[in-house]
Amino acid sequence: MRSVVEIVPTHIVREGGGFKVRRPFRMGRVLSPFLLIDEMGPVDYGPGEAVGAPWHPHRGFETVTYLLEGRMRHEDSEGNSGELNPGDVQWMTAGRGIIHCEEPHEEFLRSGGKTHGFQIWVNLPAANKMMKPRYQEVPASESPVIEQDGVWARVIAGECLGKSSNIDTKIPITLIHVKMEEGARLLQQIESNLNAMIYVFGGGILIENKIRVKTQPQAFGLGAKQNIQDGELAILSDGGEIAIKSNSNSEFLILAGPELNEPIERYGPFVMNTREEIHQAFLDYQNGTLASQA
Ligand code: FE2
Repeated sequence: MRSVVEIVPTHIVREGGGFKVRRPFRMGRVLSPFLLIDEMGPVDYGPGEAVGAPWHPHRGFETVTYLLEGRMRHEDSEGNSGELNPGDVQWMTAGRGIIHCEEPHEEFLRSGGKTHGFQIWVNLPAANKMMKPRYQEVPASESPVIEQDGVWARVIAGECLGKSSNIDTKIPITLIHVKMEEGARLLQQIESNLNAMIYVFGGGILIENKIRVKTQPQAFGLGAKQNIQDGELAILSDGGEIAIKSNSNSEFLILAGPELNEPIERYGPFVMNTREEIHQAFLDYQNGTLASQA
């Protein structure tokens, strides 16, 4: 059974064209393979106020955009364009390079409204950092959703309660959006060799660990409280399953993936293994060779 070993609080930062995001402190190696978890909003925009992220490059990792409310459009150097509506997932593998923009949809910009969602950066292993860019888009209507016993879950990547995502990842990733009613319980299996964490963005949950209750918590170094509240990212111990009980109506993400054990050199939108590779990414961007049709 996994327990909470550390609670990472979040802070508000401004990103891209100026939109506010809630972001856990101290992302990076400790949460491998996740480089960033940004909760966009929730924010209410008036007519003409919505902002996005104008054209910018990426290399060496994947960006996962999951929209809960609002309407976005995207366009990129590969000639792709499309829109994201509530419940839609865009899993973009930047690989060797992509230049894109992520903006509010024109109609949404005109009318205004609520925007809420996530952008999560997932690192790629060194062997895949320069892979061909690819998109995997899963509209809300096609994503696996489970509803049982006070638990609602959308499987963005990995598996939950017997349902699997059809997103293909280079390393095993679990990403599940869960809503639970007060008192509901969920037992989530995570392979024991993966890092696991939970980000709560509504209400509060309790991680139940029967082993911990029977023995002395100190013996396992389990100092952190097992309750996770709105705006907290909990890093979980090694182990297999996670036993979750909802303290209230709650909403959260379960994230898991492997420790990559590779050096990380990061500068802005580029995440590589060495300084030389970062330097090369800048050169390629300046020369117009970062992305295939830049
Ligand atoms: Fe981006």
